[in-house]
Amino acid sequence: EVPEAVQAPLPVAELHLHIEGTLEPELIFALAERNGIQLPYADLDELRSRYEFTDLQSFLDLYYANMAVLRTEQDFADMTRAYLSRAALAGVRHAEIMLDPQAHLSRGVALETCVNGVASVLAVSEQEFGISTLLIAAFLRDLSEDSALEVLEKLLAMDAPIAGIGLDSAEVGNPPAKFERLFARAKDAGLHRIAHAGEEGPPSYIIDALEILDVERIDHGIRCMEDPELVERLVNELMPLTVCPLSNVRLRAVDTLNEHPLPAMLAAGLNVSVNSDDPAYFGGYVDDNFAQLRSVIGLSEFDCVRMAANSIRSSFASDERKAELL
Ligand code: HPA
Ligand code: ZN
Repeated sequence: EVPEAVQAPLPVAELHLHIEGTLEPELIFALAERNGIQLPYADLDELRSRYEFTDLQSFLDLYYANMAVLRTEQDFADMTRAYLSRAALAGVRHAEIMLDPQAHLSRGVALETCVNGVASVLAVSEQEFGISTLLIAAFLRDLSEDSALEVLEKLLAMDAPIAGIGLDSAEVGNPPAKFERLFARAKDAGLHRIAHAGEEGPPSYIIDALEILDVERIDHGIRCMEDPELVERLVNELMPLTVCPLSNVRLRAVDTLNEHPLPAMLAAGLNVSVNSDDPAYFGGYVDDNFAQLRSVIGLSEFDCVRMAANSIRSSFASDERKAELL
């Protein structure tokens, strides 16, 4: 039998990935030094000791704080390059990458700086890493819809190379209905639409994301399992759910990987894929997520292959690219 370490990883599309969540502790320190920024941690170990989260918000606090080291286009480019290089080893052949522009604008970093820094690397990702990529502008749901609309208009005016919009950050208390006009504007502009829903929020947020925001994919969506009627609808619509198992454990959406609803979601016939979310924070990339699903909960090779195929089919890649990858 071939040892696991030398088996080629399954070719997958990564559909749920926040580029700022790929900032590894080493890169945080390197960028802080390059930019003359004093970090509130003495060393790597002290930073790493902060990676114990109690819920989504406790993670978001550290995630936003660490972004302080991202100042220049080069910083955003270096972060993106580091992700693609690691993702290639994880078997990622297509990636749809979320960027949080508002989290940078609020720190005085220009829209052009963050967008161009990431996009300059995505433009060469297929040649350099064998990974086709699309950029998705994600909006922070704890901010106002007017703020999101203003940023979306600026992105459209600068002809930013974005394929779609997403909705992330603090879910509970910030329901999809708050962003009805934003998503209508994005649809009108010909953009794809996705939203985090049912990570910490209730199943009704998933229904509202479908009905009010007209999304094409749900990020996370694990709490759909509390509503059998919703599950039936998601199955019938082949609605993609981008599940992030290690993230759910680290953010305490589930207690342990053994209690993760993924096997039940597969059994229900849901269109689920495996994704890393914020791999630098949650203990691993896509390959690590698959490895733990195999070793900890004994997920079958059949189910792994099925989810890899789901990820490619559920992507916004061209039909030609999908055919290459399937
Ligand atoms: N959930 C919500 N918002 C986020 C996440 C997440 O897992 N990661 C980065 N922003
Ligand atoms: Zn996410």
